Amino acid sequence: MENILEIKDLHVSFDTYGGEVQAVRGVNLELKKGETLAIVGESGSGKSVTSKTIMRLLPKPAARIKSGEIWFNGKDLTKLSEKEMQKIRGSEISMIFQDPMTSLNPTMSIGKQIMEGLRKHQKLGKQEALQRAIELLDLVGIPNPEARVKQYPHQFSGGMRQRVVIAIALACNPKVLIADEPTTALDVTIQAQILDLMKDLQNKMQTSIILITHDLGVVANMAQRVAVMYGGKIVETGTVDEIFYRPKHPYTWGLLSSMPRLHSKTDELLAIPGTPPDLSNPPKGCPFAPRCPHAMKVCVEYMPDYTTLSETQKTACWLLDERAPKVEPPEIIAVGGAGK
Ligand SMILES: Nc1ncnc2c1ncn2[C@@H]1O[C@H](COP(=O)(O)OP(=O)(O)OP(=O)(O)O)[C@@H](O)[C@H]1O
Ligand SMILES: [Mg+2]
Repeated sequence: MENILEIKDLHVSFDTYGGEVQAVRGVNLELKKGETLAIVGESGSGKSVTSKTIMRLLPKPAARIKSGEIWFNGKDLTKLSEKEMQKIRGSEISMIFQDPMTSLNPTMSIGKQIMEGLRKHQKLGKQEALQRAIELLDLVGIPNPEARVKQYPHQFSGGMRQRVVIAIALACNPKVLIADEPTTALDVTIQAQILDLMKDLQNKMQTSIILITHDLGVVANMAQRVAVMYGGKIVETGTVDEIFYRPKHPYTWGLLSSMPRLHSKTDELLAIPGTPPDLSNPPKGCPFAPRCPHAMKVCVEYMPDYTTLSETQKTACWLLDERAPKVEPPEIIAVGGAGK
């Protein structure tokens, strides 16, 4: 399948009083046309920084793209001016943030906020844009859209606001939608409705989605492929089946063991002992080595290359080197079907 977005060896740092924080350290990612790619990984692993870099919405002047390329539609987004980026942002690539309240303007009616992008990017007249805003509110399941379009964010519930945010994000039919924990702030039933809505809209509009989530149930329900991030790097990628049932990286094992699973036959959850690396002084070897129960000397010294396990699965772990001892995944993964 054709790639719609391609990230190559991306490095992003923050300059802070405590020194340089190397938040993203050599990320490679491909997003295929029409697919949903989930990015998972512990807090601080670099998921949001990676996605904000695609949108070029990093805080200035602290953050900087040190090196790397982000290819979209024949252009390297890292090289575009702010003006060129504004044409792409919201029209070709949109982002939904975790907290719907922070992404809506409390002093502007919902209608105006939806119409902004339509008028700017699609050059619609006022009346046309209003009509389209009402259609969009209807599309995302907001009852009585003709009246609702004139109201302000505080007149909407949390779930409704997130629907509005989705309406804004999808208003200009973006080719890529980045959803950074779009339902974390919502209760479970609303969460399911919003995810169904995103899926539905994706089918209608052929949008490609990058979905950042902590919830493996959401991954199983929404995504075709998964990228596992740790310490500013992608340590393993694969299809949902490969990551859930044949994971090869000990960090993926830990992550799966520490999260509730859909089809697990055991309820046991195991936290990964230890803490993530300090990215102002990142480890030279595998970032997971200090917490990895199987770490060898080489893991601490050198970052492993990716091993290609299938057309879709790549894993960066020294255990996959032919000279390494054979290690079995923990019982909790095996119960879920690993290694089959
Ligand atoms: N404004 C900032 N200044 C300095 N460091 C930052 C800043 N924003 C993020 N970082 C650092 O960048 C790293 C990656 O952060 P990021 O927000 O991408 O994590 P994340 O994977 O999205 O985590 P979470 O799951 O908690 O949202 C972290 O170590 C974080 O401390
Ligand atoms: Mg985040």
